[in-house]
This record gives sequence, C-alpha cells and structure tokens, in this order.
Amino acid sequence: MKISIISTSHRKNSESFRIARILKKEIVKINNKIDFYNLDMFENKVPFWTSERSEDNKFWDKEIKKISSELFSSDGFIIVVPEYGGMASPNSKNLFLIFNNGEFFHKPGLIVSISSGNGGAYPISELRSSSYKNSHITWIPENIIIRNVQQYSPGNHGDLIPNWLDSRINYSCNLLIKYSEYLMPIQKLINRKDFSNGM
Ligand SMILES: Cc1cc2nc3c(=O)[nH]c(=O)nc-3n(C[C@H](O)[C@H](O)[C@H](O)COP(=O)(O)O)c2cc1C
Repeated sequence: MKISIISTSHRKNSESFRIARILKKEIVKINNKIDFYNLDMFENKVPFWTSERSEDNKFWDKEIKKISSELFSSDGFIIVVPEYGGMASPNSKNLFLIFNNGEFFHKPGLIVSISSGNGGAYPISELRSSSYKNSHITWIPENIIIRNVQQYSPGNHGDLIPNWLDSRINYSCNLLIKYSEYLMPIQKLINRKDFSNGM
C-alpha cells in the first residue's frame, strides 16, 4: 500500500510540510510496511494551471509525469491544507486541476487543515464541497483541524494544543489506512473513458 502526503502551502519551510512529516511518522508507527510519496507543492514548484504551457516547459514536459505516476500508484492521500484568508489554499485546488488524469479516482483522502490561530474549518468545507467532482477523490468522513499549529509538536505540545488531538490523529490515520485497503478493489470498476467527469 502507498500513501501520498501532499502539502498545499505556498510558503517555504511551511507548517504544512512540517505537519506532513509528522503524519508520515504517525503512519509508520501504525504500519511500517506502507510506502510513501511526499509532495510539497511549494518545494516542487508546481505551477498554477495555465493553458500557456510553454512558460514552464520543464514542469509540463517532465516533472508533471513523474509526480502524476507517484500519485497514480498511491492508494490513499493525506492533503495538508492551510487556511488562507478564510479559504482553502489555492494550491489545494490547483492540485486537482493539474493532476486530473485519474490519479485520485475513487481513492480515499484525509483532509488535515491547519491554522496558526483558531481557524481551519473553512478549508474543510471548501474541499468537501468542491474538489471531488472531476478528481473523484473520496474524502473520508473524518478530518483533522490543527489549530495553533506552531504549538503542535508531539511529545512537546504547547499549552494551546488539546491533549486529545494526538489520539484523534492516530484514529483518523488508522481509518485512512483501512479505507485505502478496502477501496482498492473498486479500481476494477473504474470507467474513466465514459465517466471521467462527474455530473
Ligand atoms: C496569506 C495568508 C492568509 C492567512 N489567512 C488565515 C486565515 O484566514 N485563517 C487562519 O486561521 N490563518 C490564516 N493564516 C495563518 C496561517 O494559518 C498560518 O500562517 C499557517 O502556518 C499557514 O500554513 P503554512 O505555513 O503551511 O503556509 C494566513 C496566512 C497567510 C500566509
């Protein structure tokens, strides 16, 4: 089984990427046989979707294929999404425009929303309402919100991190692994030729 953890921040040394690394360790603790792919959309310089592909040849000719095949071979996804201006980060939407060849088709996804303050709810509702139609990502019913994210550091949390958060993260990661396992057979039913876009 392979899980891709995708950081959709627009910032260098982002909290999203830091959290992505912590989540990877959490999953390894649960099952050390799982393979990973880590995509940091900032560090990997994933451009915004555009029809003017000549502007970034290196990405559109080469890099996109490499990332796409990593995503294709994944069985489940964790999307770490920061709240920017009360919205999901633009990269969290851009992800589904750029990689729209079935990479996410009917595969489970866990949304992990982060905020440096008390936000974090909007990216969840935004992604749940508008990212799945053509990507067909299957968001699992659990999600995580890490508020006061700078204080989140397992084993050494700041005062503003509730003590139940780690066990909820463990629970949600466990569920994602099981959804990834149990949804695998559904790939045999996929008909992207006739139904690549949702209604
Ligand atoms: C452009 C911008 C807008 C932001 N807007 C919000 C917001 O609406 N709500 C919130 O809780 N935090 C907001 N923040 C704070 C982010 O939650 C915080 O900086 C977080 O660390 C960003 O994640 P990142 O480091 O992965 O980019 C904003 C940050 C930036 C850079």
